[in-house]
Amino acid sequence: MTGDLDAADVERELDRLGAILGRPLSVVALTGSTSDDAKAAAAAGAPHGSTFIADAQTAGRGRGGHIWYSPEGESLYLSIVLRPRVDAQAVAPIALVVGVAVAIAIERRLGASLPVQVGIKWPNDLIVSGKKLGGVLVEGRLRGAEVASIVAGIGVNVRTESFPADIAHRATSLRAIGCADLRRAALAASIIDEIGRAIPLFELRGLEPFLGELSRRDALRDQRVDVGGVIGSGEGIDAAGHLLLRGDDGELHRVTSGEAFTVLRA
Ligand code: BTN
Repeated sequence: MTGDLDAADVERELDRLGAILGRPLSVVALTGSTSDDAKAAAAAGAPHGSTFIADAQTAGRGRGGHIWYSPEGESLYLSIVLRPRVDAQAVAPIALVVGVAVAIAIERRLGASLPVQVGIKWPNDLIVSGKKLGGVLVEGRLRGAEVASIVAGIGVNVRTESFPADIAHRATSLRAIGCADLRRAALAASIIDEIGRAIPLFELRGLEPFLGELSRRDALRDQRVDVGGVIGSGEGIDAAGHLLLRGDDGELHRVTSGEAFTVLRA
């Protein structure tokens, strides 16, 4: 285990913040995927807030079955079991809620000396200066009309200086953008704390309290997007968490997160 990712440090920081999630906490040197660990624990009854962190993953995955680059000692790989008290049909926007919480937590780590906005490229990318700093992968298990459990998997590139060739042009890290404090334990606790503040609000009022933040951080606003052959410009995110796309035909399209889309170069 590298020095900046120690379970005791994460717990101390969770206590300092008064975080309501993050326990029980598991921090390991190596695993397949923290999200697989969290899913197995959730299926075995792990409580809301159970958290799994690893220094490295051998089978880290992103959305759409992509591999998530997960070398040791460099980045944060964290998954939380959530059991939100919302109906299954209302739970999908939780991915955006987690994204906003992670963006706020990262900005806090960046500090006021570095006035960088962490954008959200719908539905799950955390973007700084046009490059991907991290991502959120939300997977759920439903039981009829109820949510049995959600696993929110979060990856943030922290120290990485050279990425694999296929992602090098579009990936960045906290170090690359000039962040001075690269302690992963503190970053993890900050993310867990922020998610803990966001979930009760989501349970009460859905996505509505987060729409302002989403709009401010919307990396697809006015970007050219192709969704299954419909081409247009991003026009925000609606209260159900859909991407709004103003088609070149003048019509407003609502895109759900399951649909494949491509961001076109201007
Ligand atoms: C994405 O942008 O496609 C989402 C990436 C999510 C990666 C994290 S790292 C921790 C957790 N474990 C995984 O295998 N994936 C998520």
